[in-house]
Amino acid sequence: MYVSPEESRGRNRPVLFMVLAGNSFDGVIEMILFFGDLHGKFGHVERAVAEHRPEAIILLGDIEATRPLEVELAKVMEMTEMWFIPGNHDTDRPELLANLNESKLAHRNLHGRMVTIDGLRVAGLGGVFREEIWWPVPVDADSHYDSYADYQRHSEAGRGLAARISTKNRNEELSRQGQMSGAKAVGKLLKHCSSIFPSVYYDLAMQEADVLVTHEAPSCHPNGFVAIDELARSMRVQKSFHGHQHDNLDYQPKWDAMGFKAYGVGLRGIKDLNGIVMKAGELDAQRASRQERIE
Ligand SMILES: [Fe+2]
Repeated sequence: MYVSPEESRGRNRPVLFMVLAGNSFDGVIEMILFFGDLHGKFGHVERAVAEHRPEAIILLGDIEATRPLEVELAKVMEMTEMWFIPGNHDTDRPELLANLNESKLAHRNLHGRMVTIDGLRVAGLGGVFREEIWWPVPVDADSHYDSYADYQRHSEAGRGLAARISTKNRNEELSRQGQMSGAKAVGKLLKHCSSIFPSVYYDLAMQEADVLVTHEAPSCHPNGFVAIDELARSMRVQKSFHGHQHDNLDYQPKWDAMGFKAYGVGLRGIKDLNGIVMKAGELDAQRASRQERIE
């Protein structure tokens, strides 16, 4: 028998009630919390987890950890379980990526897979669409590279780096061949660690989940992508959460047409599984005028 996320959650734990400040909300607080882009700040994560004691938290990318993630979140990990997807800025510098992928919490990366968290099937797609790889507008647009391995093997950057490694006088040789410099090639290979490749997208699309977390927004956001909608529908998710856009727009008028409930979480904002704002994003008020573009 299929049990909806709401039913499942109601069975698993006592119902929690709260009154939100300035707002007489009197409903159930779903205790998976979704965190919008952190951009290097972690204090509010620790405070929110200590206050609300969620079953789990999910970071929606652009974490920018300047220390290994298990160090940044040491106190948080004593109180709850944490999952994350990377964002585009998590590949701005090699150490930012290493602090996620080489940390002791690297196995909590949801990108490209589905994991059961607190009884819910949660799937993750981190990173962003980039024209050099795949710009899915329209959604069936051809990609330049199918996978990261394909990019490594066939791109100028990947071939340049291979030549750099295999050539004794590498920079001179690359220069003679008119190829991309080693530093530029390394930069591109780093950047595309946070690009969305079709192979990851379509592997996810073959699975089913209850919730999809992405860094890119679905089409209900003015800068969003129909490809995210298509993925959510293919996976039959009921809800999706995204970061990246640093705003909190009301997508509700578009939910029926989209076939799932979408939520954006603003800069260092926090929402629960029902989309209730637990902490407003720092730019939410400033960017509320974006709402006009989706109405
Ligand atoms: Fe981003």
